[in-house]
Amino acid sequence: MTDLPTYTKSQLALRNGQDKPEIWVAYKGVIYDVTESRLWRRGQHYEHWAGQDLTDELPDAPHTDEVFERFKAVAMLSSGLSS
Ligand code: HEM
Repeated sequence: MTDLPTYTKSQLALRNGQDKPEIWVAYKGVIYDVTESRLWRRGQHYEHWAGQDLTDELPDAPHTDEVFERFKAVAMLSSGLSS
C-alpha cells in the first residue's frame, strides 16, 4: 500500500521540463521528481524526455534503476483506464 496520490498520464505530461517547473519521470508505475537533477535539465536526458513513462526505455540506459533511489516518489501513475 502507498499513501501517494495517483496522477494521470496527462498530469505527468505537463511535467516535461517545458510546461511546468517540475520535471517528473514515471518508471514501473511510480512517478519520480527529477527536477533537481542536472542530468534532466529542461526535461531532456540524452535522447529521452521527461513527462512520460520511461519503463520500456530503461534497458537502453547504461545504468540500472538504482538511479531512481535518490529521487522522491511523488505519485503513482494511473493505469490510464479512465483517463
Ligand atoms: C541513452 C540512454 C541513457 C543514457 C546514455 C543515460 C545516461 C546516464 C548517465 C551517464 C547517468 C549518470 C551516471 C549514472 O548514474 O550511471 C544517468 C543517470 C540517470 N538516468 Fe540515465 N541514461 C539513459 C537513459 C535513461 C532512462 C530511459 C531513464 C529513465 C527510465 C534514465 C534515468 C536516469 C536517472 C533518474 C538518473 C539519475 C540522475 C541524477 O542522479 O541526477 N536514464 N543516466
